[in-house]
Amino acid sequence: MTDGILKQIAQYRAEISSFQPADAADVEEYRIKFLGSKGIVKSLFAEMKSVPPERRKEFGLILNEFKQLAESRYLSFQELAVADKSAEQVSEDLSLPAEPHRLGARHPISLVRKRIVSVFERIGFSIAEGPEIEDDWHNFSALNMTADHPARDMQDTFYISQHPDWVLRTHTSSVQVRAMEQQALPIRIICPGRVYRNETISARAHCFFHQVEGLYIDKDVSFADLKQTLYYFTREMFGEDIRIRFRPSYFPFTEPSAEMDISCLICGGEGCNVCKHTGWVEILGCGMTHPRLLENCGIDSHAYTGFAFGMGIERITMLKYQIRDLRMFSENDVRFLQQFEGL
Ligand code: PHE
Repeated sequence: MTDGILKQIAQYRAEISSFQPADAADVEEYRIKFLGSKGIVKSLFAEMKSVPPERRKEFGLILNEFKQLAESRYLSFQELAVADKSAEQVSEDLSLPAEPHRLGARHPISLVRKRIVSVFERIGFSIAEGPEIEDDWHNFSALNMTADHPARDMQDTFYISQHPDWVLRTHTSSVQVRAMEQQALPIRIICPGRVYRNETISARAHCFFHQVEGLYIDKDVSFADLKQTLYYFTREMFGEDIRIRFRPSYFPFTEPSAEMDISCLICGGEGCNVCKHTGWVEILGCGMTHPRLLENCGIDSHAYTGFAFGMGIERITMLKYQIRDLRMFSENDVRFLQQFEGL
């Protein structure tokens, strides 16, 4: 009896090994025949009780092996079926639209920096960059801000404790100093970059932000050149209808100095919350390069004149996209950043 069953198992093994399903229905038939609840594997296990005790171990081993073979063949048929299916889907789905590929978005600060830089590049300015960790000379002293100058208070920054002479730069005017020391004249540069100040973080201020500063030094550069250059920039940036105005101001490194306002983009000059009901919003500081600054950098201030200006990229971005809180720029909130996709 037991030998009869063993012979039978050997036959089934041969059958399983040579079985090649043509389709899913064949696979299902195989499953029911061998692995189903009334299938061959189950019924062979039921035969166990008729096997004499001394042969049970041998019989059990053979039966288990057989069960494993039946199951592993079934699994391999299933894998084949899945592979087949995906091959079928590829050919079927060719007409469907492709899965969208999200490209991501540029950061709004990068977008606006690019815009500003490209406007100035069109009128002959080239980009200059410098270190974010600066020495006192390039950040302050060369710019006429000597150690006890009160203007240093307005640009309080972070000092490197092991190096009392090193600071995190408070503006990219330091890059202008480096350019004046090194480059041949005339100089026409814009300096985009990150700057640092020891400010309490709020909706309008942060301990780091971004600037674009500009410098033009040549023979006979006048205040009229400064005004026209900035007027050109403003119109390219904000549109033809924009108006500008200059207010007298003070910077240690320019003389005369001014702050430039643009007509409010929100109310068009009528007066609203954003412009504090004045119709004007300040966007940059500027002025004629101070003769002492030129001399500090080895340029003959009798032969050459120049102008400089500096603006915060955050401020321009907030005006352009009507963003109310400067902290959004550094919070990395995807819901905010996604809104700049495709720009
Ligand atoms: N460096 C000044 C600041 O950061 C801006 C400025 C640049 C003003 C050039 C005048 C001329 O506040």
